Amino acid sequence: MDKLIINGGKKLQGSVQISGAKNAAVAVIPAVILAEAPCVLENVPSISDVTIDLQILREMGADVRVLDKSTIRIDATHIRDAVVPYEMARCMRASYYFLGTLLTKFNHAKVYMPGGCDLGDRPIDQHLKCFKALGADHSIGRGIVEISAGKLIGTQIYFDKVTVGATINAMLASVKADGLTILENAAKEPHIVDLANFLNSIGADIMGAGTDVIKIRGVKRFTGANYAIIPDQIEAGTYMVAAAATKGDVTVNGIIPKHLEPITAKLRKIGAKLEERDESIRVMGADTYERTNLKTMPHPGFPTDMQPQFAALLTLAKGTSILTEGIFDNRFRYVDELRRMGADISVDGKVAVIEGVERLTGAPVKVADLRAGAALIIAGLSADGVTEIEDIQHIERGYEGMDVKLRSLGADIVKRRFTDGVRTAM
Ligand code: EPZ
Repeated sequence: MDKLIINGGKKLQGSVQISGAKNAAVAVIPAVILAEAPCVLENVPSISDVTIDLQILREMGADVRVLDKSTIRIDATHIRDAVVPYEMARCMRASYYFLGTLLTKFNHAKVYMPGGCDLGDRPIDQHLKCFKALGADHSIGRGIVEISAGKLIGTQIYFDKVTVGATINAMLASVKADGLTILENAAKEPHIVDLANFLNSIGADIMGAGTDVIKIRGVKRFTGANYAIIPDQIEAGTYMVAAAATKGDVTVNGIIPKHLEPITAKLRKIGAKLEERDESIRVMGADTYERTNLKTMPHPGFPTDMQPQFAALLTLAKGTSILTEGIFDNRFRYVDELRRMGADISVDGKVAVIEGVERLTGAPVKVADLRAGAALIIAGLSADGVTEIEDIQHIERGYEGMDVKLRSLGADIVKRRFTDGVRTAM
């Protein structure tokens, strides 16, 4: 088992190149199934969720070639209608995007129920509602979701709640449906727009992505395309918060500042100094931070995927901060681990009350999910002493080479392999 060992207290300084967006890549890669010629995807992040997505495509018979670290050529023109295997589907939530894309390709799809971060209840009722509205029947049995349709027919769908996944699956399932599909109360995240842009680049007819009404007119054929994935605003936000927490001076490069507005605004509000340029943001940490209140909301609100990281920073702010998780039932599984490091946080349902403390101290901690892991790294970087972080496979799902990037910014962080508690290779 690998661990991250951090000797905290070092200011992060320098610049870091942000990779492609995980949540865009895991939507675009399944969508390549629809292309009737090979596609080349650029700026693909080298993370384990992408590795699994590409494995699923290979299992189905796609020809997948890694042209360089972040460029992949995929020829899915001869894939067969196969079940997305359990051992892959259970590793990530985004495996359920194969439902929408295979339904469009074969009028049929069989995918094991998705896994991914345990953030409390994560139903798929809105996904199933979309497939039904488009004319598909579904059954769930033996852990498998199976959907099939004689014909997919465009329709009007109003989401009962804003959901990124169901908005994406609805787009994937309606791009070849007969006639017009209108999605209302749709999610507006940058990765929704990125998927729509990719689909349009292979011949789809999608308008309004990024607003709460998306119109999709079914088309008959798709071409291939060369397409570059957008930069990851959550990875960028994570390094920005790490810079603030270590009172450092870090520039995140290769980003789209507009995607980071809620994070930039919050960092300024508590006292960090930021300089924005066309494709980069510089974050200069402050000696002390003001308390703040924060509620996570669908885009363009403060993103839930930055909630744990910001909480780690607020453990060091002066006074009492109130943090409300507006999206998931239980996204506070990192709090016990921060308490081991001296944080003063109490949680009641979806609300965390954070009393600022002078400093955190290093401790052995465990990662519960992807962004919880990022929060523990940020806490370890700012803490006095050594923090040992276990279960880092969660972090490697969504952050490309995080230890390497942090070391390039001056962090004292190493990855070590342990077998039965004894350090071995690395
Ligand atoms: C996506 O998850 C992201 N994952 C999550 O990122 C992100 O936190 C989330 O969107 C919100 O932005 C990927 O893109 C792969 P939702 P998703 O459907 O699609 C409820 C990360 O750290 N809901 O927008 O699962 C649901 O329970 C990950 O990168 C239903 O009730 O999120 C939640 O409370 C974690 N019924 C809310 O909606 C449904 O059918 C929002 O979920 C679907 C969702």
